[in-house]
Amino acid sequence: MIDDVTRGLGLAPATAGDYRELARRRLPRFLFDYLDGAANEELTARDNRQAFHRLHLRPRVMRDVSQLNLSTRVLGQDLALPLILAPLGLAGAMARRAEVQAARAAESKGVAFCESTVSICSIEEVRRASGAPFWYQLYVMRDRGYARELLRRAHAAGCPVLVLTVDLAVTGARHRDVRNGLGGALPLSGRLAKAWDLLSHPGWLIDVGLRGKPLTFGNLTAAVPGARNPAAFKAWVDSQFDPSVTWRDLAWVRENWQGKILLKGVLDVEDARDAASFGADGLVVSNHGGRQLDSVAAAIDALPRIVDAVGDRLEVLMDGGVRSGLDVVKALALGARACLIGRPWGYAVAARGEAGVTHVLSLLGSEMAIAMALCGITDVHALDREMLLRAEG
Ligand SMILES: Cc1cc2nc3c(=O)[nH]c(=O)nc-3n(C[C@H](O)[C@H](O)[C@H](O)COP(=O)(O)O)c2cc1C
Repeated sequence: MIDDVTRGLGLAPATAGDYRELARRRLPRFLFDYLDGAANEELTARDNRQAFHRLHLRPRVMRDVSQLNLSTRVLGQDLALPLILAPLGLAGAMARRAEVQAARAAESKGVAFCESTVSICSIEEVRRASGAPFWYQLYVMRDRGYARELLRRAHAAGCPVLVLTVDLAVTGARHRDVRNGLGGALPLSGRLAKAWDLLSHPGWLIDVGLRGKPLTFGNLTAAVPGARNPAAFKAWVDSQFDPSVTWRDLAWVRENWQGKILLKGVLDVEDARDAASFGADGLVVSNHGGRQLDSVAAAIDALPRIVDAVGDRLEVLMDGGVRSGLDVVKALALGARACLIGRPWGYAVAARGEAGVTHVLSLLGSEMAIAMALCGITDVHALDREMLLRAEG
């Protein structure tokens, strides 16, 4: 995997974490912070990782592990690995046409890609570039007419699953973004620092900043007056997040969407029960990667109780802090059908484009295979709580 990018940086990436370091070097600071950062003190984002560390795998020996099955079926779709590339708003600012590159990587590895409402590439551009069905993520907007139009476009593109994100009634307090002046004014010294930040990352500046049209929001150009202007875009997006959304709006989505509905951003057992009774097909146990309400539970800690409460009625997925195949194995052992990964594919696409995302998916798959073999488990469907021990202390 050593190529021009990684050779120049003296690092051949061996883990998803290595891609974080490559992305940190490649991206202007304000973009890396946008991708890497989380809400408030970032406690939940950190705990999303630490909670995985607290779970120990139970090794087993002397079992025939010569044949392994990592493939599964999620909401009617066969996946070669139990992984989905999570929706990342503004991904196309990390690499040129990043959503297209990620969708192609997902297709080549047999996993699903989920396109964010606030993507740079449009639904139709991703559809043209990728032969595989991809998922579409929606925020219920105040302008229901536009939301309905997005659902129509996603359906026309053949998206089988709608990911309805429900944990963004208001936007979390992301301090790194405020300090970097994302969407707000900066003092002169800050503007000079930003100019220097851009100039000192010429690889990104030329490839993405100048050639990549990173600020054209493909799904929103028809709705946002001045969609190419970041301030106009931010004002429109802020005005469109609808804090009045309730469970009744799920019925509205159901009326306007023929495919499966996956609610993303549930962390509480009572909300999970409501999701089941209001007709979702599945849910993602998620705290938005720690970017919304800080100080909430790590997603992997919230998972088992939700699986116990609704696992017989809904397909339960999880995301937040998944950085290795071992994490995926732990999540599946606790009852998740599959995991979404957010930042890991963002780092990878920033560092090496499609090849980076493909490589991260390969790494996660081979780490899963090693972990399963050394736990004496040959099929992802046989992963259960018996193979986990909680670390002491
Ligand atoms: C830069 C960034 C942008 C995101 N944008 C969206 C989005 O547009 N829609 C959404 O539902 N979730 C969004 N998320 C949350 C991810 O889909 C996912 O829940 C989270 O990244 C999972 O945690 P992880 O990054 O630790 O894997 C975003 C996350 C990041 C890091």
